[in-house]
Amino acid sequence: MQSTNVVWHHATVSREEREVLNSHKSAILWFTGLSGAGKSTLSHAVESRLHEMKCHTFVIDGDNVRHGLCGDLGFAAADRTENIRRVGEVAKLFVEAGVITLTAFISPFRSDRDRVRQMVGANEFFEIYCKADLAVCEQRDVKGMYRKARSGEIAEFTGISSPYEAPEAPELVVETGSKPLEACVEEVIDLLMRQGIIKLDLTKSVSIA
Ligand code: ADX
Repeated sequence: MQSTNVVWHHATVSREEREVLNSHKSAILWFTGLSGAGKSTLSHAVESRLHEMKCHTFVIDGDNVRHGLCGDLGFAAADRTENIRRVGEVAKLFVEAGVITLTAFISPFRSDRDRVRQMVGANEFFEIYCKADLAVCEQRDVKGMYRKARSGEIAEFTGISSPYEAPEAPELVVETGSKPLEACVEEVIDLLMRQGIIKLDLTKSVSIA
């Protein structure tokens, strides 16, 4: 922390008041998994469902963030750690703003994901492991990057020449490598209902006690 002589200014409109207004709680849905596992596809599909339910949502997507906020970072371990730290801080702000925040980053290191978990309160961080075998992701190779990684054109590629540490105790494992998208979406929506983030009938307000 380099900033000194700074004093926290407390918001006049509280997060709880925002949640009452929204009729749902806010939280981080942290999608993690290999490139091509389906993190972006699933998070945007979940967002669409939540949007239809009149929830306030936003997807922070790895590839997009690397065009701006994290455009100065590469894929060495230290850069990935900084990428996830920044995104965690942004996601935390979104949670304060009352938004259900979906993040789609490989986030290969357990310690980086755990650090974000520690940034917010209990029941506010849901780690969702998009589980797909490397062979499936490589077979899909939507962006042609696995081919380049195999040929050495892209260095430190996750799963090929850089590690991916699978979650040990995620809130949800979604078999994105084998299940249809709609089934995966339902599993995430179920989780949010079980955890009291959203209610089936969003015309009724969620108790935020
Ligand atoms: S993370 O490791 O720091 O979490 P992030 O999710 O932001 O990664 O970005 C991953 C995306 O960057 C991949 O989907 C892929 O399109 C692209 N990419 C480019 N180079 C690499 C690389 N060396 N390893 C993984 N992804 C890469």
